[in-house]
Amino acid sequence: HKTSDDSYDYLFKVVLIGDVGVGKSNLLSRFTRNEFSLETKPSVGVEFETRFIELEGKTIKVQVWDSAGSYRRTMQRRLHRLSLGVLLVYDVTKSGSFEAAKQWLKEFRENEEAAKSDMVIMLVGNKLDLMHLREVTAEEAQAFCEREGIFFIETSALDSTNVGEAFQQMLTRIY
Ligand code: GTP
Repeated sequence: HKTSDDSYDYLFKVVLIGDVGVGKSNLLSRFTRNEFSLETKPSVGVEFETRFIELEGKTIKVQVWDSAGSYRRTMQRRLHRLSLGVLLVYDVTKSGSFEAAKQWLKEFRENEEAAKSDMVIMLVGNKLDLMHLREVTAEEAQAFCEREGIFFIETSALDSTNVGEAFQQMLTRIY
């Protein structure tokens, strides 16, 4: 197993985007460290963490960037230029966060430079464990993604459901 920082075959950058409090930081920590925190500790600015994964016999260094939902939108825009994949996160219990994700995609499509790129975009409905509080149905989100030609998955950073799968699917598509 290659673990040192400089022995990898590919470097993939993935950025987490989405409203304040949808769970971006926890998806990141669940994926890179298998950790979850119940505390709300708003991210300030932008941070990234790294994890190595094996894909078809290749070692891939995955750099996952977490952008604070409250951070300037321009920064989120600038960030995605460096990235190959976007995990566009909303909270299944907050329809407002789903609307915000739709809006982000709309702006992304309207941005000429961004639209030209072959970035892989995956919509992630997080907090699946809070099923009883659900405001956005899987059917509705799935239909939206089919119309837009992007990928869709629902996750829970709390109980780990689909977190690895979300990243794995995204990376397989980039690869
Ligand atoms: P900003 O950095 O402010 O943009 O927020 P964020 O999107 O990074 O959200 P964060 O990961 O800080 O999570 C916000 C709150 O939601 C915290 O209290 C988390 O514990 C909680 N949370 C995150 N993911 C889940 C989840 O899958 N299920 C449940 N029940 N709570 C979650």
